[in-house]
Amino acid sequence: MTFRKRDGLFLLIVAAVFITFYVISGSIKTTRVPYDETHRPFYEMREAGMKKIEVDAQCEQCHDGEQIAFPPEHPAKPGDAPMRCLFCHKLEDR
Ligand code: HEC
Ligand code: HEC
Repeated sequence: MTFRKRDGLFLLIVAAVFITFYVISGSIKTTRVPYDETHRPFYEMREAGMKKIEVDAQCEQCHDGEQIAFPPEHPAKPGDAPMRCLFCHKLEDR
């Protein structure tokens, strides 16, 4: 069997898929949501069965870029709708 250009392309696609899974599986660590007085209600909302996207909507009450500033290199800017905070910032494992 000869190795063709198409086989290389196939391998490249397989590799890309694996890398994508690796990244979204949370192996790249973003600061977790602290389990503290302020953030405990959000843990309780998730435990009560609320959807992530519904909980996300409440973060901007405080994290609106003014009361609490985002790091300058923050990938999501306030006003980017919808802000999927919990997609990147996981809850602590408990
Ligand atoms: C009532 C105001 C308030 C709300 C609502 C809130 N936060 Fe926070 N958050 C804070 C404050 C104050 C801090 C900084 C002090 C601290 O760590 O508690 C903080 C810090 C953080 C940090 C950084 C922790 C660290 O280690 O530096 C993350 C991540 C975070 N919040 C995510 C979220 C997410 C996600 C939501 C929505 C589910 C949310 N917050 C909702 C007030 C809030
Ligand atoms: C696309 C992914 C992504 C989304 C969406 C996102 N963040 Fe972040 N956030 C990051 C990254 C990456 C950093 C910088 C690295 C770190 O501190 O974890 C960061 C940093 C932060 C920090 C500073 C943490 C520290 O240690 O100082 C806070 C607070 C924060 N984000 C809160 C939020 C909140 C609240 C939302 C939703 C309104 C949000 N983020 C949405 C990826 C994201």
